[in-house]
Amino acid sequence: MDVNSFQKKEKGFIDEPVPRDVDLVEEINRLKTEKKAVVLGHYYQTADIQDISDYLGDSLKLSQVAAETDAEIIVFAGVHFMAETAKILSPGKKVIIPDKNAGCSLADSCPPDEFRKFTQAHPDHTVISYVNTTAEIKTLTDICVTSTNALPIVKSLPEEEKIIFAPDRHLGSYIQRMTGRENMKIWQGACHVHEEFSVEKIVELKKQHPQAKVIAHPECEKPVQLLADHVGSTSSLLKFTSKDDARQYIVATESGILHQMKRESPEKEFIVAPPKDSTCGCSDCNFMKMITMKKIYNSLKYEKPVVELDEETIEKARRPIVRMLEISKELGL
Ligand code: 13P
Ligand code: SF4
Repeated sequence: MDVNSFQKKEKGFIDEPVPRDVDLVEEINRLKTEKKAVVLGHYYQTADIQDISDYLGDSLKLSQVAAETDAEIIVFAGVHFMAETAKILSPGKKVIIPDKNAGCSLADSCPPDEFRKFTQAHPDHTVISYVNTTAEIKTLTDICVTSTNALPIVKSLPEEEKIIFAPDRHLGSYIQRMTGRENMKIWQGACHVHEEFSVEKIVELKKQHPQAKVIAHPECEKPVQLLADHVGSTSSLLKFTSKDDARQYIVATESGILHQMKRESPEKEFIVAPPKDSTCGCSDCNFMKMITMKKIYNSLKYEKPVVELDEETIEKARRPIVRMLEISKELGL
């Protein structure tokens, strides 16, 4: 299936006007009960969406939930590859994404035809792909990973095992640095949000707030990672801020996570790290922010748009994701 074809369509959501007197929170909750539906929300969603989500988490947690839920309908408040992963893990369920055009620049940086050639050129390599990929890339993958389990999963493989790591070059080189592995071929993809944080501006900000700790996602560029007091996945950054004793943090990841950081540590201050280009508003993922309460309401009401994948793709793409969930369980993640 050509997943990217969604992005060519003009509208990826149900564009029905919602009367002013409709209380979206109440109506979404009513529809969820009536239809035995659950909303899975990623930490990068807006605060209102996080608050109505039945399950909130990073991409690892949400894929674990998607594999186990007994709900009849899954509404995925996140980006397309996440909803696709839920469909692959629960093919018998109706999986809805409130806006099909909520894509991912990182997933787009790994086109299947080029990636197939790359894997064919290195047939003796184990292919490890971040879940931030299309279903087609997953069919070419041996083990999927998320930013939470990528490092422990790579560490769990024998040292002599050759690896292709895709698609994020910064996460790939972070893993290479942490493991000292020479035998890794890294695909040169990147996320437009995390690549945009400016090390120079973070240094300036640190001068104004000398007590603040810098925390960064491993999709950030190496200089930002080297400057950071802690590098980790979205949930790892959240855990760090709730356990650590600093009072101020400069956060180099998508700004949606600040809602939970403030909730868990209301006495602390969180400052979003500045992007290189101050006009781009880069700490927001414009794809994640395409999902709105109104779109969630309409998608639940009309049960559209649904994620559809052919059986062969589901079967092939399922193996590396299940492998990831199994290894994560073995590692207690
Ligand atoms: P997590 O694996 O931390 O959920 O990150 C997903 C993502 O899209 C990062 O940009
Ligand atoms: Fe993709 Fe980056 Fe948005 Fe995450 S933040 S969904 S990697 S574009």
